[in-house]
Amino acid sequence: MVAGASAQTKEVQMLHWWTSGGEAAALNVLKQDLAKEGYGWKDVPVAGGGGDAAMTALKAMVAAGNYPTASQMLGYTVLDYAAAGVMGDLTETAKKEGWDKSVPAPLQKFAVYKGKWVAAPVNVHSVNWLWINKAVMDKIGGTQPKTFDEFIALLDKAKAAGVIPLALGGQNWQEATMFDSIVLSTGGPEFYKKAMNDLDESALKSDTMKKSFDNLAKLKPYVDPNFSGRDWNLATAMVIKGDALVQVMGDWAKGEFVAAKKQPGTDYLCYRFPGTDGSVIYNSDMFGMFNVPADRKAAQVALATATLSKSFQSAFNVVKGSVPARTDVPDTDFDACGKKGIADLKAANEKGTLFGSLAQGYGAPPAVANAYKDVVTKFVHDQIKTSDEAVKQLVAAINDAK
Ligand code: BGC
Repeated sequence: MVAGASAQTKEVQMLHWWTSGGEAAALNVLKQDLAKEGYGWKDVPVAGGGGDAAMTALKAMVAAGNYPTASQMLGYTVLDYAAAGVMGDLTETAKKEGWDKSVPAPLQKFAVYKGKWVAAPVNVHSVNWLWINKAVMDKIGGTQPKTFDEFIALLDKAKAAGVIPLALGGQNWQEATMFDSIVLSTGGPEFYKKAMNDLDESALKSDTMKKSFDNLAKLKPYVDPNFSGRDWNLATAMVIKGDALVQVMGDWAKGEFVAAKKQPGTDYLCYRFPGTDGSVIYNSDMFGMFNVPADRKAAQVALATATLSKSFQSAFNVVKGSVPARTDVPDTDFDACGKKGIADLKAANEKGTLFGSLAQGYGAPPAVANAYKDVVTKFVHDQIKTSDEAVKQLVAAINDAK
């Protein structure tokens, strides 16, 4: 570092929504790696899973010309900022580090804009998972549910045993994240893609979509009365403690089990959402890189280089619950769920059954994703009363947002 450099040139300013125990532990891996390179950390945390509050805060910062070095972002948001001309260009670093060869093509579609690398992918998360407390599962004599009907039967067993069957946080993004899996399970891979990625109107208003809402309705009786507004990590804690049997959540939930020193197979079980085996609904946290002044560029390059280094990709993702954003990172240090996550991602990518999560910014631009979350949450909270009405409103809201 150059003597006399200002504080700003020697630090990375990062906006993110990683405020849970598992998320903070993962972020520490990055802070420590950067400290080794001589860079400090200026934290801009904005709590709220799914990142809606963080993205509102980021909008205000960018409008004021106050660019962070980087911000956590999901898929289409990266492209929106790139189109607005406020992103930096990391192509030189990407070339030096060979990102085009190691980062899977579906992620490059979001990290590269008009031939320039504007973001560094940190991980690949996937949302179609069940997280189950093993002791509760044993107590009720449950086995892995392979179909939606078997899932309902399992939830019934928990209910009969006096355990809260389904730990849910009643916030729109959590409900919609769960609904992504329900749509895949109800309609299968081709239907998911048509409806949730291609936004095909005939799929969105189909009987299969209505049936997906019917299936969502079937889950409601298994949620405890205090679910409204609950944070996702508190729902995970209910499963960790054995107060609830299962949570349907992206694998950031696994980060909470890791932080609580729980072991897969012994303390908890990770299964694909019933009826979705063989497909992966993904999202990827990206560090969107802003067009910072020249004297802050070295810190940004250091951040980008650290983020995509093989050692960081392993160390960080082991803690975060996600899997590497590079295809050449060994799975040695990952636990059984992590190894499964890596293998499932590879297989789905090869088979064409890897799909972007609509709830998590990889199915459609933010306006559409928000319209979707809004309809799903209204349905869960009885502001929309029937599946017919839900489908009508979904089509109308998506058309408005497009
Ligand atoms: C992010 C995860 C994060 C989760 C909950 C998701 O949108 O991709 O990294 O852990 O939200 O905060």
